[in-house]
Amino acid sequence: MRLGVRPVGAGAPRVPALLVGVAEGDTLETLKLAVAHRRPVRGALAARDATGRQNKVTVVYAEGTRIFLVGLGPRKAVQADVLREASAVAARQAQGLKVKELAVWLPSLAPRFGTATVVASVADGLNQGGYAYNAFRTRSDERVTQLESVAFLAPRTELAEAKAAAAGLAVTLDAVNFARDLGNRPGNDLMPRTLADAAQAMARTYGLRCKVHGPRDLERMGAGGLLGVGRGSAEEPRLVELEYAPRTRARGTLVFVGKGLTFDSGGISLKPADNMDRMKFDMCGAAAVLGAMQAVAQLKPQVRVIGLLAAAENMPGGRALKPGDVITALGGATVEITNTDAEGRLVLADALSYAAQWKPDAVVDLATLTGACTIALGNFPAGLFASDEKLHDRLADSARRAGEKVWRMPLWKQYEEMMKSDLADLKNAAGVREGGACTAAAFLRRFTSYPWAHLDIAGVGHADHERPGMARGGTGYGVKTLVDLAVRWE
Ligand code: BES
Ligand code: ZN
Ligand code: ZN
Repeated sequence: MRLGVRPVGAGAPRVPALLVGVAEGDTLETLKLAVAHRRPVRGALAARDATGRQNKVTVVYAEGTRIFLVGLGPRKAVQADVLREASAVAARQAQGLKVKELAVWLPSLAPRFGTATVVASVADGLNQGGYAYNAFRTRSDERVTQLESVAFLAPRTELAEAKAAAAGLAVTLDAVNFARDLGNRPGNDLMPRTLADAAQAMARTYGLRCKVHGPRDLERMGAGGLLGVGRGSAEEPRLVELEYAPRTRARGTLVFVGKGLTFDSGGISLKPADNMDRMKFDMCGAAAVLGAMQAVAQLKPQVRVIGLLAAAENMPGGRALKPGDVITALGGATVEITNTDAEGRLVLADALSYAAQWKPDAVVDLATLTGACTIALGNFPAGLFASDEKLHDRLADSARRAGEKVWRMPLWKQYEEMMKSDLADLKNAAGVREGGACTAAAFLRRFTSYPWAHLDIAGVGHADHERPGMARGGTGYGVKTLVDLAVRWE
């Protein structure tokens, strides 16, 4: 998406579509509209169509432009997430009218509020709502319109701040859409091998080092988690390693790890048929890491960033892991397999052990790890587990700035106890459903030896149902948080 900032001129802006925010009680005066736009908007206000009710969109037509009046609720309660959601809803409506270019009337949005926050949250919302995935539509009349360009129209006094805020935003928003595209790709198109291809292509374009480890390398490393999970599938597993290194002295090293199950059938502990198609989204953690690496490569922060994608397909083939089997994960810990559907933690165990070689200052993993996390928290926050207070605070702050909700979950010793096996060092499933997100996190912790945080994104990696301003499918959740963490790391 192209993002620009232009000064509000004397006349009416010549744009195909214009977004105007209307709070409750707003009048023509408070909206500070161009003269040519006042008449149709006056009509919408007088008819009480545009009342300012939150997320309500009213479209009016002025000379040469459509005006999308979007409700913001009471002006006093307008926060970043109100602007984000209202913009997303308006963008979805504009999408239905095949709008590719949209201008934003900042004078209607900015008062009381930092211009930078307004620009960031509106751009984010528009990107969220204006997204389309058409790769598998062969009929052009069925294609959904992708929003291609957004221009903020800013008063002279806010021009500099708006421009500064917009710089770099498009890079991150494009990375979010890249992650959404990856999530939406079907399981027979995105396999561990083609996910690695996508990583390599991205790395080539943006100048990152990228190394792909196939089965032979994994064997040599002793990556029994990835190899074990991959055994039941005709598609071989991959461990993908990406590196961004700043030109001058780095302020430290971050490692981002993503669960990349390109399909999770459950394996021999087969999942029920209902909604099993959704398990193509079991690679959304890896997609978020890949998206974040794409943005990091362009934003060039003063910190070294490593991205690790643990990619496999979990299938019940003749050579698949069976309940009762024991594997040896990278680093040497043995794991009794009590449920082959608890496969994410097995591939992550290898990647988390592998991450130690960089002596990282922080490691953050993202994984669609447990259904239990969605039962605990629902479908908008991710569960945040952290072994280090400072990293927790930094990550929670980045998530807040990014508009991605996280909620802290505990890493108590009792959960670790529940993951002990009679036979091996650990078992991969506790055998009780209670606290499933916490026992999974406790399992992962055993493979970490550095400040570590884990985001369980099972509930947020993809949207099952249409939500306000969000199409069904991959959400790109996590990209913005990771990028913020890297860019502000010191
Ligand atoms: N990929 C699933 C978790 C998941 C469920 C993600 C629903 C998104 C939506 C994961 O591999 C899994 O199957 N976890 C099991 C663990 C259990 C067997 C201990 C679960 O959550 O039931
Ligand atoms: Zn599973
Ligand atoms: Zn899974």
